[in-house]
Formats: sequence, structure tokens, C-alpha cells
Amino acid sequence: MQARTIREGIRWMGAVDWDRRMFDALIPIPQGTSYNAWLVQGSDKVALLDTVDDAMVDILLAQLADVPRLDYVVAHHAEQDHSGALPRVLERYPEARVICTQRAAGFLQDLLPIAPERFQPVADNETIDLGGKTLRFLHMPWVHWPETMVTWVAEDRILFSCDFFGSHLASADLFVSRESLLGPSKLYYAGIMMPFKAQILKHIERLSSLDIEWICPSHGPIHDRPNDIRESWRGWAGDAPSRRVVIPYVSMHGSTSRMVSHLVEALSLRGIPAEPLNLLETDLGALAVALVEPSTLVFASPVVLNGLHPLVQSAAYVIAALKPKTRFVSTMATYSWGGKIDEQVRALLSGLKVEFLAPVSCKGSPGADDLVAIDGLAQAISLQHPDAIP
Ligand code: FEO
Repeated sequence: MQARTIREGIRWMGAVDWDRRMFDALIPIPQGTSYNAWLVQGSDKVALLDTVDDAMVDILLAQLADVPRLDYVVAHHAEQDHSGALPRVLERYPEARVICTQRAAGFLQDLLPIAPERFQPVADNETIDLGGKTLRFLHMPWVHWPETMVTWVAEDRILFSCDFFGSHLASADLFVSRESLLGPSKLYYAGIMMPFKAQILKHIERLSSLDIEWICPSHGPIHDRPNDIRESWRGWAGDAPSRRVVIPYVSMHGSTSRMVSHLVEALSLRGIPAEPLNLLETDLGALAVALVEPSTLVFASPVVLNGLHPLVQSAAYVIAALKPKTRFVSTMATYSWGGKIDEQVRALLSGLKVEFLAPVSCKGSPGADDLVAIDGLAQAISLQHPDAIP
């Protein structure tokens, strides 16, 4: 795509990555993504805010063909999807200085061949006047690395937010409907930002003093209804967990899936929605999205080689890293001759502040006593949800 003027003196640049299906070799992104860079031209000086992934550097350099001079390249974040093209851009513009946090300067030198003298670290709230456009740098660590910052241009009421408020959505349009954006934004939040909920809430609060008209992130379309995306992120990060149960499971011969079905029905009878997630068919992105709101997780697994099925073990490991707002956890196991999974799940989730409810364990195919035990688990869960049907 060619560069596009979005305001007088401000151009979208960057690359739409239609074909990318995995991000960070970790999160599936079924709708692709984009790497947005923004050219801000004042009457005196010119700045490029972020670059693109190294694989797409030639697209950015072509967009810069009619830009004879760059005074600054602002690197909000050192991760290579935004900084990968930085060395080639700096090679093209030997006069340009790299504006970033002190910590980002260190990261960028660790990751990329950039000479130390090219860097001009900025303090929190420091400004650079380009002539009629003032870049104000707000340090916002942990969206999504510890070195990150955003840029506020008060004259245009635009916040350039890099990963903050990003969405994984490849689109030829710079503006899309709220409905089109909600799913990709939630996927982005769940897969990238959920572990940093506390910092996100703090930064959203800080931004409330700004009269923002547009948020221009470095992934996905522009937010021209900034309140919508801020409130979505505020809710995902800060609302109390919802009265809902997620059940990640694997079933080898049908016993575990029968336990899961019974639990789903027992919860439903008590007015509690439940979402079974067959991990043979659920990718990491869908798992992460499913974890954003629910209060309760029940892991269900056959005992394999004396422990969790590896897919359930992997899910528990990832869940511990994503730090959802879950408050209650339990397990359901089927076994033939021995082995326990509850201790394993407790150990994997030891970093989460959750209460463990009594597990259910079933030898062989679930019988009448096992179904009663599952009813007991559903009842224990319902007692944690005051508005459930008794
Ligand atoms: Fe879009 Fe954390 O990089």
C-alpha cells in the first residue's frame, strides 16, 4: 500500500501483512496484522514514528521516497515488528536520531546493529517541537515490554500508541467498523496484553486527562471512537470476572468428554454458563480469548503416563503466564490404574491468586457416583457465584 495522508502533515506509512498467521511464533492471527508507521511533518522538522517488520522494510523505504530528510525516528518499542526496519531507515537518513526511552536504547542496541551515538533518549513527558506539531512522549512500561512509550500530538489530538490498543487485523482501510475491530482487538489484548492488566489500567487512567480524537496504534486500524476501545480494554483488564466457567480438556476414549458434558449440564441447571474447550481443536489465541472474563477454570484430562495429558499441561502453563482474572480452579481426571493431576495443576498455577475447589477423579468410565461427584463440583462452583440458581 502507498502512504496516505490522514491529517495535514501526518501520513500513515507501513505494511499490511495479509499472510501472517502466527505472531511471535506463538499466537495464531487468522486475520493477519499490520505494522503501522506514522510520518509527522512540522514546519521545521520531520519525525517517523515506528518502522515495520524487517521483512517489509522495502515497502516502507518506497513510501519514504519523497521524504528527503528525517530528523527523528521515534522507537516506541524495541520489539522487531516495529524496529526491524530501523537500521535500513537510519542508513537512508544518516542525520536522523532515534528517540526512545533509555531502556529501549539498550534493548535496540542488543537487538539491532545501531551505533550508540544515533540514540537520543527522552524522559517521561519530554517534548520535541517539530514546528506546529509537538511530540510529547509518555512512558508507558509494559505495553507490551518494560521499555515502551507512546506519543501524544496535542495539536491534532492524536495518540500514537504502538502496541497499546493494537489489533491483529490486516485491512486496506485505515478505519473500520467497531464490530469488525472488536474480535481482533480482544485477540490482541488476550494474547499479548492480558498479563499486564494492572499496568494497562494505570495507563488508561493517565490517558484520561487527554482529549483524544484518534488513537493510531502500530497494529491494526485507527480508532476514531477512542472511548470505545478504551472502555473495551478497561473492561477486559479491570472488570470483575464474569459468572462463567471455562473447561479446557482432552478426551482419549470418551470418558473425560462425558464428565465435561455432565459438568456443563450441571452448571447450566444452576444458571452458570460453561464453555468446554477441546484442546485438540482449540488454538492458543482462542484459549486466550476464552480466558479474558470467566471466574472459574476446570481442567479435565485423562491420566497419561501418571500425569496430565500434555495438551492440558501446556494449556495450564500458558494460562499461568497469561495471568487471567480467574478466581477459582478445579480439575476432573479419568484414570485406569493410577496417577493424579490435581497436584500438577496446582503446581503449574502456583503463581495465580486462585482458590482451588475439590477435584473430581473417576476410575474408568464415569458411573453414577462419579456423576454425583461432578454435581458436587457444580454445586461448589455455584456457591462461589451468589447470583446462580441454588
Ligand atoms: Fe507489536 Fe510488542 O510488538
